[in-house]
Amino acid sequence: MTPAATLSGRKILLIVGGGIAAYKALELVRLLKKAGAGVMSVLTPAGAEFVTPMSLAALTGHPVRQALFMPEDETAMGHIELSRWADLVVVAPATAGLIAKAANGLADDLASTTLLATDKKVLLAPAMNVRMWLHPAVQANVERLKGFDGFHGVAVVGPDEGEMACGEFGPGRMAEPAAILSAIEGLLAGPDGRPLAGRTAVVTAGPTFEPIDPVRGLTNRSSGKQGYAIAEALAELGARVTLVSGPVALAAPVGVERVWVETAKEMQAAVQAALPADIAVMSAAVADWRVDGVASGKIKKAPGGPPSVALIENPDILAGVSAPGKLRPKLVIGFAAETTDLEANARAKLSRKGCDWIVGNDVSDDVFGSEGNAVTLFTRGGDVESWPRQPKSGVARKLAMRIADHFKA
Ligand code: C5P
Repeated sequence: MTPAATLSGRKILLIVGGGIAAYKALELVRLLKKAGAGVMSVLTPAGAEFVTPMSLAALTGHPVRQALFMPEDETAMGHIELSRWADLVVVAPATAGLIAKAANGLADDLASTTLLATDKKVLLAPAMNVRMWLHPAVQANVERLKGFDGFHGVAVVGPDEGEMACGEFGPGRMAEPAAILSAIEGLLAGPDGRPLAGRTAVVTAGPTFEPIDPVRGLTNRSSGKQGYAIAEALAELGARVTLVSGPVALAAPVGVERVWVETAKEMQAAVQAALPADIAVMSAAVADWRVDGVASGKIKKAPGGPPSVALIENPDILAGVSAPGKLRPKLVIGFAAETTDLEANARAKLSRKGCDWIVGNDVSDDVFGSEGNAVTLFTRGGDVESWPRQPKSGVARKLAMRIADHFKA
C-alpha cells in the first residue's frame, strides 16, 4: 500500500515538544500533507523555542494550539475535542519531560492534557541526549506507557543512533521524518489499523548455541534485533505472535509471546509447537552444525593438543516449515544473509528451502548488532523490491505491511 492510500483523509494531531529535532517535525508535516493527511498541531512553549507557530500553521494550514486556556481556541475546537478528532496522536519530538508526564498521568498544560484525554493511539518519536534516553527513569516511563492495559496504546519510533546536536554519540536522535511517516502508516493501515487482527505468526530470532561441553559452544553472530523488530511490527498490526528466540539481550516486545531456546533442535521443536500459524518468519541465525556427542564434563586442555570435535548437521527449520503439509503456514519467509551475489543466492535459497519469500541482506557491510539494515525482498512469484538502508524497525514495519497486503489480496 502506498502512503497516500493509507494516509489520505486520515487525521493526525501532531504535538511538537522542545528540542533541536523540532525542525524535523516541519518536514514530517510536509510529508503527511503530501500523502493526503489532515494535520493539526500543538506546540509546547519549549517547542516554540525551536520552531515558530507561523511555520507550523503555514504547513498544516490550521492555527497552532499553544496554551491550555485560550477562549478563542476553545470555541473553535476544545482541547478534548481536538484529542478525539485525531485518528492518531503523534508526539515529535517526544522529550523526556513529555514522556514522563504522559507515563504518570500529569496534566498541567495543553500537550499533557491532550495526551491524557485522547482515546486514540499515540506514537512517540523520542529525541533527547543519549544519557537522558538511557536513564532508567526514561526507559521505565516508556515501558510503563507501552504496558498500560485497556488503553489505546503507545507505539514508539526511534530514537536513532548517531551523532547528536550536543556532540555526543548514541541513541537519542529523533527518527527521520520518513521513518516516522512509515510508522504512522503502519499504525493506520487497514480500515481498523490492525490488518493482521485474527492472524497468527511465528518468528525466529537470534543465534542458536550448540554446546561442546558444559562451558563451551558454537554460535553465530546475531543480535536478534531484526527478528525482534519483525515480531513487534506484526503484533502492532494485530497478529498474535510467538517469538522463538535464541540467546540475546533484548526485552520481549509488548504483546508478543516469547519462547526461549538455545539449540537448533530446541528451536525447531518450539516452532513446531507454535503451528498452526498463518505466517512464519524465520530470521534466526541457526548454527548449521552441532557437536556430535556433547561432553558431559569440561574438556581439559591436554598435552596432545586440542581435541577434535565431530560435527553433525542441524535440521533446517525453514525447509521443514516450508515443506508441504497440513501445518504449513500460508506464508513462509526466510532470510538470506550474503556477502556476494545477493540475487542469485537468494533465488537459489528460495527454491532450495521451498519458502514463499526471501529477505536478502548484504552483510558485507555493517549489519550485525547495528541499528540499520538494507534488504531486498524476493518472492516466489518473481517480484523484487529493494528497500533502502534504514533502522531495523523500519525494515520490520515495511515487511509487516507487505505481509498484511499479501493477506488482503
Ligand atoms: O541456509 P541459510 O542458513 O543461509 O538460510 C538462511 C535461512 O534459513 C534463514 O531464514 C534461517 O533462519 C533459516 N535456517 C533455518 N534452519 C537452519 C538454517 C537456516 O531455519 N538450520
